[in-house]
Amino acid sequence: MSKPKVFLTRRILPKGLSLVEEFCAAEIWQDELPPPHDEILARVRGMEGLLCLLTDRIDTEIMDAAGPGLRVISSCSVGVDNVDLAAANARRIPVGNTPGVLTDATADLAFALLLAAARRVVEGDRFVKNGNWKTWGLDLMLGADLRGATLGIIGFGRIGRAVAQRASGFSMNIIFTDPHPAEPEAGVEAKQVDLDTLLMQSDFISLHCPLTAETQGLINEAAIDKMKPTAVLVNTSRGPVMDLAALYKALRTKRIFAAALDVTQPEPLPPDNPLLTLENCIVVPHIASASRQTREKMSLMSAQNLIAGLKGEQLPNCVNPEVYRK
Ligand code: GLV
Repeated sequence: MSKPKVFLTRRILPKGLSLVEEFCAAEIWQDELPPPHDEILARVRGMEGLLCLLTDRIDTEIMDAAGPGLRVISSCSVGVDNVDLAAANARRIPVGNTPGVLTDATADLAFALLLAAARRVVEGDRFVKNGNWKTWGLDLMLGADLRGATLGIIGFGRIGRAVAQRASGFSMNIIFTDPHPAEPEAGVEAKQVDLDTLLMQSDFISLHCPLTAETQGLINEAAIDKMKPTAVLVNTSRGPVMDLAALYKALRTKRIFAAALDVTQPEPLPPDNPLLTLENCIVVPHIASASRQTREKMSLMSAQNLIAGLKGEQLPNCVNPEVYRK
């Protein structure tokens, strides 16, 4: 029996890749850079499965180009804002993602960024490497304490709750917003508040919401205006949740203390973006889930979703289970 044909928009890590290659006739985009949309359009023709990364926009055009044989779209990511879910639903194509396995890695990075911004770690490193360190100074690189400070978490899903657990270990007060009632992990105290309260009361704000029509541009000039002048903002969710022009203005004028971004809009952030000139802004290249173990697990899960879809089985992790309803 011939193997089902699939297109992978990038090489995934070894365990996932061997599983795909064992079960499928796989065409794999080998470049480090994502395939341009036109390349995906051309390569997806006649494919039964598509495995993509969050960098690949999978829209109506792509689904139409694949044709009616396309049985599964598997994104090697937890966020699937890159996939047009309405278009997948209309074609009854299940879409897979990789939740759970990246929760701790992402929460770890959010916390690393929070600490780094609070204690000016990146700025300090640059200061030393640039030869500017003259002496121990009583007021050199003063930052912010975590103990007793209020952390506002926007989006209290798996990752938001894991950040709360870490913050609880640092004796922070935790408040959060989420459109769906959510309970913190056992032993963690956290209070649900409305967005304005969170913006006004928080010393640290960490974003963990998905990108949706409601969260696009959520952290804009008006939201920043409500924050404390000492506020530290951390974004490990999606770039478009934050208005970067408004953020730049607020950081440059010291309207808020600092920001640390794992995600930006666009990605990558062009080297001439003014944010990159600011000492009080840390930017890392969307690496929240980038631990070896986590990326291995994500690769394996995305392969398992792909194969389940090809076999006509329910995907182990499906973001649109409504496609299975009669
Ligand atoms: C990372 O941002 C992911 O959605 O997996």
